[in-house]
Amino acid sequence: MRCVLLLTAALLLPLVASGCGEVPEAQYSLSDDTLKLISEARSGMRITVQQADGSSERVEIDGVENWLFNLFGTPESPVAWQRLPIDYGGVAGEVAAVTEGDPSSFTATFTDPPLEVEPGTSLQWVTPGDDLVVSTVSEWDPVSQVLSLTTELDSPPEAGTQFVLQPADQLAFGRKLYMTHCMHCHGVAGDGNGPTAKYLNPRPRDYRQGIFKFTSLKQKVRASRDDLRRVIQYGIPGTYMPSFMLLSEKEFSAIVEYVRFLSMRGEMEKAMTGLLAGDYSREAVADVKGDERNEMLAALAEYLGGGFREELSEEATVLAESWQEVEEPDAAIQPTVARVEDSAESRLRGRALYLGKKLDCKGCHGVTGEGNGPQTIAYQEIPGSQPAQKYPAPGLYDAWNQPIMPRDLTQGIYRGGRRPLDLYRRVHSGVKGTPMAGFANALTEKDIWDVVNYVMSIPFEGQQPAAEVSDSEQVASGKTQHGTSGSDR
Ligand code: HEC
Ligand code: HEC
Repeated sequence: MRCVLLLTAALLLPLVASGCGEVPEAQYSLSDDTLKLISEARSGMRITVQQADGSSERVEIDGVENWLFNLFGTPESPVAWQRLPIDYGGVAGEVAAVTEGDPSSFTATFTDPPLEVEPGTSLQWVTPGDDLVVSTVSEWDPVSQVLSLTTELDSPPEAGTQFVLQPADQLAFGRKLYMTHCMHCHGVAGDGNGPTAKYLNPRPRDYRQGIFKFTSLKQKVRASRDDLRRVIQYGIPGTYMPSFMLLSEKEFSAIVEYVRFLSMRGEMEKAMTGLLAGDYSREAVADVKGDERNEMLAALAEYLGGGFREELSEEATVLAESWQEVEEPDAAIQPTVARVEDSAESRLRGRALYLGKKLDCKGCHGVTGEGNGPQTIAYQEIPGSQPAQKYPAPGLYDAWNQPIMPRDLTQGIYRGGRRPLDLYRRVHSGVKGTPMAGFANALTEKDIWDVVNYVMSIPFEGQQPAAEVSDSEQVASGKTQHGTSGSDR
């Protein structure tokens, strides 16, 4: 049976300690940046507040860890934070009228009324703001439509108040599947650091930045449900990401929602830690001692209890909107011009663009497309480093700070899908989270198709008689033969 969770600071610590009577089998790890915070910012603090009458009171102040627990729960018992656009599952209902004289029951209306509700089913109130209030059902009478709770409510809910029964059942199902099929690579928290991850190259995705490489989207971050679904269904060719062809529709939906949940959870953690890291990392306050330290902690307590909470709420709004936007039809890259006919002329135009200074595909992929361009041996600047710093070893790095090689295009293995549309999207908006940026601003749609036609012909270069290629280009590529039309149709 679930405990009544009134997730406020005061109740939080005893709850963690008792864990609702269960020992959690898996725990979310904290990000490296969160671990760099001072313990008060990370795990909260207790402060003594002087009352006007001279008495004093101990007050719990939540840190990042507590907030994550409040808003997302544990892997065992996820919380359905209704602010985020996640399909948690559950049955949505509304209070019709409060039962006179009984603060623990009310008549309820449902769009899809359940015939049966197990006693002990949890009921989550949909409240504005970030407080999650959960009750437990003791009885449901489908005839009178009276729903009774195990405990009295502090104040009877108004008619029209919304709630969700068994709020996170789909999420819990997704989690179960995730723990079976995905966790050993992607980790419990989706940090890309499961037990087998360290043996893999490329590493399993760390979802916590909200960056996905092979999406259909114009924007650089996040992924649509369809994008995630496609990757899970077909896998990522040429990597250890397997295909899960045999899952049912219901299973796909549940896993996709769980990946989105982990991603949003990670992004919220990143946002929270970002708000605190400047002033309250161990490094930032290493030299702050004595009274000064007490002042610093008092300022932290004030911030965590006030401004931080508001900023967090704003972050959640932005996050929720951005995950909603990616589902809009115009978020996806959809060429308005049909694929340019895959002719020798189109490939030559594409090849000229590939080799040209403006796009400089060859700078990374090399003149022959083997993924060995000069950028792979140059020292690259660490993005956002101030003052500008270079990576200690030469070559390219991705958003997860891992070394990365440009694709060997002679192999014809495309991780993001091999349809011409997939490659169009790669050239248009790049491979997200990698140094390969998009080229939409530098190219017309027809140009992109020419580049796609050329790229798709690279694996077949040399297999066909030479097309009309100028001498200078042959010298530039070091090759004497180029694919002609028909070689990969
Ligand atoms: C054997 C290890 C392994 C398992 C098991 C695995 N993955 Fe992956 N996954 C990877 C690797 C490796 C990558 C990164 C490939 C790359 O960067 O090109 C990846 C990438 C992804 C991505 C990112 C796609 C993108 O566009 O960036 C998603 C989403 C994903 N996996 C979901 C899942 C889910 C869901 C499961 C379980 C149903 C799962 N993976 C199981 C190894 C694994
Ligand atoms: C700054 C370096 C860089 C530049 C410039 C660059 N790429 Fe890439 N490209 C990469 C990297 C790195 C990857 C591998 C990303 C991954 O899968 O992790 C890649 C991957 C690819 C892929 C494979 C996509 C897939 O689905 O597997 C194609 C195709 C490609 N690039 C084409 C191009 C073309 C065409 C250009 C020029 C218009 C270009 N690249 C410019 C670095 C670059």
